[in-house]
Amino acid sequence: MKYFIGNWKMFGIPKSINILKRINTFCSKDKNRNKYKAIVTPPYTLLETYSNYFKTKHLTIGSQNCYQKDKFSSNTAAVSPYMLKSVGVKYTLIGHSDNRSEGDTDDILKEKVKLALKNNLKVVFCIGENKTQKKNKTTFNILKRQLTKVLEKKLNKNNIIVAYEPIWSIGSGKIPSSDDLEKTIIHIKNSLKKIFRKKSPAVLYGGSVDGNNVKIFKKITQIDGFLIGGASKSSKKFIDIIKNYYR
Ligand code: 13P
Repeated sequence: MKYFIGNWKMFGIPKSINILKRINTFCSKDKNRNKYKAIVTPPYTLLETYSNYFKTKHLTIGSQNCYQKDKFSSNTAAVSPYMLKSVGVKYTLIGHSDNRSEGDTDDILKEKVKLALKNNLKVVFCIGENKTQKKNKTTFNILKRQLTKVLEKKLNKNNIIVAYEPIWSIGSGKIPSSDDLEKTIIHIKNSLKKIFRKKSPAVLYGGSVDGNNVKIFKKITQIDGFLIGGASKSSKKFIDIIKNYYR
């Protein structure tokens, strides 16, 4: 199974649902539809209406984050995995570099993953190195540390997906070389096999993915799908990524 996950970040108002309706129409008729899952993560404000609308449809709705406390708490502006589940959300991103840079530590992320899984959400756990770490050739160590500090054997790996998003690539138009990317995905899968003692969860790539470069990425068969930022805000661009992947 491949995954095409759109991360809207701070984008979208109620009528933006039309973008997702067009994506859903394409996916539900696509001859390759059984080979992949299409998921989009709109902001919190839209989750309930969108989840209700797409409940019985092909497209699935996820959240961009969740708070590290269960059920209800006195943390202003926080939304717990329990609250997300209550409005029909199926997936949540955890550990996006935007949130790591705003203070999400490994300990916080560990709690988020645990609570999201407890509330039956599927977790898309994001990892990635920054420009300096890449330059200093510490990428492999960084990624391994990000994985081992948060994920552990007792977690349900069937509900975990890992997204590799090099920070320097996000929104920059820059992508890793195929050689580097293939080696990195293999390194991540090997690290995950060590944590979970057997099979690795799916590993996605994210960072400036578009309808053109997806043709390069598809040659790297170890990549199980994509986490797509900018291009997911346009139905045409998102659909082009799926179309070109299977062309
Ligand atoms: P871009 O596709 O805009 O580079 O964003 C990637 C990303 O951060 C998805 O989570």
